[in-house]
Amino acid sequence: MKPRVLRYESLPSTNTEVARLAAVGAEEGLAVVADEQTAGRGRLQRAWSSPKGAGLYFSILLRPRLEPERWPLLTFVAALATGDALFEASNVQTDIKWPNDLLANERKICGILAEAIETPTGRAVVVGIGINLTNDAFPADLINVATSVVNESGRAAEREAILAALLQALARWYALLQEPDGAVKIAAAWSSRSSWATDKLVQVTNGAETLHGYTRGIENDGALRLETAQGIQLIRAGDVTSVRPARMNV
Ligand code: BTN
Repeated sequence: MKPRVLRYESLPSTNTEVARLAAVGAEEGLAVVADEQTAGRGRLQRAWSSPKGAGLYFSILLRPRLEPERWPLLTFVAALATGDALFEASNVQTDIKWPNDLLANERKICGILAEAIETPTGRAVVVGIGINLTNDAFPADLINVATSVVNESGRAAEREAILAALLQALARWYALLQEPDGAVKIAAAWSSRSSWATDKLVQVTNGAETLHGYTRGIENDGALRLETAQGIQLIRAGDVTSVRPARMNV
C-alpha cells in the first residue's frame, strides 16, 4: 500500500471525501487531510469536533485482501500506527482502549472511525483518524476526558511530522496484517499496548444494553472477551468505560 495524500482547507468530513473518491475509482492508499471538518463524524453516530488547525483530520482508503471477519482488525492497525506516530514525532506515550480510542494519561487524544463501503471495484474500507493537536480540538467541557498532543508533549504539535510518521507506520502495520498469521500478530501487538485488554473491570454499553465484567483479552477478529456473571461474552460493538471495584467493608 503506497499512500498518496490530497490536502484540503475545509471539508464536511475526510471519511466522506475518501468514500466519494473511492466510488469513482480511487486506488488503495488514497489519503485525505483537511485543516478543518464542518461535519466530522465519530463512532456510534456522534459528531467529531474538528475546528481549523486544532486537529489532524485524516482518512485513507484500503482495499484489504483479507477474510471479511478480519476487517475489524483494520482499526487496530490504525491504533497501532497512530500510537507509533505520536511517540516518534511528539514523544507522547499512548494506551489503547477497546476498540480503538488512543488515550494519553487516561484521556482521549485520538479517535478512529472505520467504515466499509461498496465501490465499483469491490468492497473497501475508509479508515478515519482524528488526533487532537491542541485543546481547541474538543469542547471545553471535555477537558477531564480529552487531551491533546500539545498538552501531553508540552511543545507545539508538528502536524506534518505526525502525518509523515503515521503514513509510514500505517503501511508497516497494514502489510503485517496481510501476512500469514498477520491477524494473530496484530491482535498480540494491540494487546501488549492496551492496559484495557486484560483484567480490567469495565462497563460496556451498546444501545440499551449494559454489561459489567472483567476484560479477558481479545479474539483474533478483534472482539473483546468480557467475563460477566453469566460467563464469557464476546463484545463486537459498544462503549467501554472503567469501573472502580466496589469497596469491601472489612
Ligand atoms: C471516534 O472516536 O468516535 C472516532 C472519531 C473519528 C474522527 C475522524 S477525523 C477524520 C475522519 N473524518 C471523520 O469525519 N471522522 C474521522
